Amino acid sequence: MSDKVAYERKGDVAVVRIQNPPVNALSQAVRQGLWDAMDRAEADEGVRAVVIVGEGRAFIAGADITEFGKPPMEPHLPVLCNRIEASPLLVVASMHGVSLGGGLEVALSAHYRIAQPSSRVGLPEVHLGLIPGAGGTQRVPRLTGADKAIEMITSGRHLKAPEAAEMGLIDRVEEGDPEAVGLAYAQELLESGAERRPVSELPPADPIDWDATYEAVLKKGRGQISPAMAVRAVQAATELPFDKGLERERDIFLDLMKTDQRQGMIHAFFSERAVSNLPELKGVEPRALQSIGVIGGGTMGAGIATACLLAGMEVVLIEMSDGAAAAAKERIAGNLAGALKRGKISQEKHDALLNVALEVSQNYDSLKDVDLVIEAVFEDMAVKKEVFGKLDAVCKEGCVLASNTSYLDVDEIAASTKRPEDVIGLHFFSPAHVMKLLEVVVADKTAIDVTATGFALGKALGKICVRAGVCDGFIGNRILAVYRDAAGHMVLDGASPFQIDKALVSFGFAMGPFAVSDLAGLDIGWATRKRKAPHRHPDERIPTYIDRLCEQGHFGQKTGEGYYIYEKGKRGGTPNPKIMELVKAEQEELGITPRDFSDEEIVRRYMCAMVNEAAKVLGEGIAKRPLDVDMVLLFGYGFPRYWGGPMKWADIQGLEKVLADIESYATEDAWFWQPAPLLKELVAEGRTFDDLNKEYAK
Ligand code: 3HC
Ligand code: NAI
Repeated sequence: MSDKVAYERKGDVAVVRIQNPPVNALSQAVRQGLWDAMDRAEADEGVRAVVIVGEGRAFIAGADITEFGKPPMEPHLPVLCNRIEASPLLVVASMHGVSLGGGLEVALSAHYRIAQPSSRVGLPEVHLGLIPGAGGTQRVPRLTGADKAIEMITSGRHLKAPEAAEMGLIDRVEEGDPEAVGLAYAQELLESGAERRPVSELPPADPIDWDATYEAVLKKGRGQISPAMAVRAVQAATELPFDKGLERERDIFLDLMKTDQRQGMIHAFFSERAVSNLPELKGVEPRALQSIGVIGGGTMGAGIATACLLAGMEVVLIEMSDGAAAAAKERIAGNLAGALKRGKISQEKHDALLNVALEVSQNYDSLKDVDLVIEAVFEDMAVKKEVFGKLDAVCKEGCVLASNTSYLDVDEIAASTKRPEDVIGLHFFSPAHVMKLLEVVVADKTAIDVTATGFALGKALGKICVRAGVCDGFIGNRILAVYRDAAGHMVLDGASPFQIDKALVSFGFAMGPFAVSDLAGLDIGWATRKRKAPHRHPDERIPTYIDRLCEQGHFGQKTGEGYYIYEKGKRGGTPNPKIMELVKAEQEELGITPRDFSDEEIVRRYMCAMVNEAAKVLGEGIAKRPLDVDMVLLFGYGFPRYWGGPMKWADIQGLEKVLADIESYATEDAWFWQPAPLLKELVAEGRTFDDLNKEYAK
């Protein structure tokens, strides 16, 4: 028998224990082991019941995701589930930790389910671009009804055991050792003469309005197809006999397995875990992180302070004046009130964080004991240097000195101190207590344990940390500047900002680039254009029509007018008619005859610009791995998760095709569309970005 599943006889009950660390994923060996264990129990004279338990931290976390995309190996999970359910013995699943996906499906094929109160169950397959494929869409609605099944399966959310019990998925919730409570439950059932209870034999759930549900779920998925297909699978559970419904589920599951979305989402799943796993940090001890200093309590400083407070750290925040200090405290109070309202913290905790753990001061001496300082003052090198000079004077030896700068040279900031090895960039995203991304910007002289400390801080704050090197904009903002320019060029050439936004929302972005500019404030881009103007290459195309709007004091959402007009109390905006007039004037001035763009071409150019710049960022070593770029775009820039990230998108399209498109665009604008040397190299060698990920992991 497979060593992944142990068999032990306890009186008239057989205990079948899955032992496949870390999370008991249902690999082929586990499936075979379970099958063999059921055979053995049925052949073992005197055995009347089977208790299935998981070793370690989980019952079963689901199918083994690393097997996806490879030829399926027997025994297949749905067949195994049916085999467990059909056993003449009484089968009990005793669940602890998580029971997810195939793990819950195994439990649902048992006749009774008992779970620890702290345990969680769920069918998260939609987050992998799939649907439950081992009877989940057929058995769950038979227990919960169609509505609850749809909510659970299309959201993929984890349910705590008591909620799952209330819905009918679990029969009993009981604290204790999973094997002991499972055995006691099995004994009790045997003594009471309880019958086997196959879920598949329960009557089907009542139907609901399937087409309306399908459409609503499809719309909510913003282009993601798996949740909508899950609706069709649950529909089958109400319309077809169990075995036919199972076939329908399997067909949909296997169709989804072939999709790009499945590839993209599984790439995202593994990359999210691999991203903070840097070989160079293995065995490096991070420095202490008990107390944090934050300089500047504006948008970013207040958000960073909030995140640190919520993670249990003490925070000393420095501001410039009484008024600014009061405003900073007000911002943090607002953020914490939000956490209180959402039930993330208690009133008592809220008060302690705001009044005890937080100190707002104007005196840099208050920073003398902190372990790490994050500077978030104005984006101005002279101001930053002055602040770092002061920090150098007051902070204790070994204190990490971090800057939240968006674009500025961290090497230059570091050089303004006598301890450049302690200086690092920690680039948070706005709002800093909400957004998951943290770019850890490693400067030339940053000590390795300071880098480790940056990652440790990010982990403590629940962030996805990505290592970045120093350049203008690091990974994310540098790439953003380029694909944003590509959108600007398309406007000059004839696509409207509104068509571009719409095309990119259809591609899966949460917002289009022009709506994002309105949200961020048009004044930011305007200031950057003015700053960069003197050093601009003569061939660089930069649209200036939007500057005319800024000159009139319109900066986007905050002033009510930008690319869109925003009415108070209404969500979103409507296209601003002035924009196309301003564009037309600039086209006439430049002698451009506008042409039509298809939505497809818009997406293609935008994505090619993104991929090309990303390949330059990789080639220069600013990002170490393609997956680092993917995670930056996914967690910081609203890139659709189901594409996996721009590098994964490019691999899926085929790099040869991407390069060919870039080269064809270069015939119109050779300066902008200079192909990245790395992209050319990969195409010449027939390799992909994912090959680079794999090489780095070796
Ligand atoms: N298959 C293979 N590996 C898995 C896995 C799975 N289902 N679930 C987790 N792992 C791996 C992770 O990649 C990670 O590996 P690493 O240490 O090499 O990076 C390790 O297990 C630990 O995982 P986490 O770091 O994520 O640990 P956490 O404790 O933070 O989270 C978890 C544990 C909640 C189980 C989380 O890993 C998770 O959500 N896993 C995926 C669950 C899932 O989606 N299951 C459905 C699978 S699809 C399916 O079952 C199809 C079926 O319907 C036919
Ligand atoms: P902000 O203007 O909202 O806040 C800056 C704060 O710093 C102000 O409250 C100001 O009083 C204070 N300050 C200025 N000089 C100071 C000094 N010498 N000592 C103490 N306090 C001082 O600016 P914001 O948006 O919070 O940006 C701060 C930094 O974060 C900038 O470097 C910016 O580039 C970066 N950043 C901004 C993001 C954003 O979306 N706003 C995102 C990521 C980084």
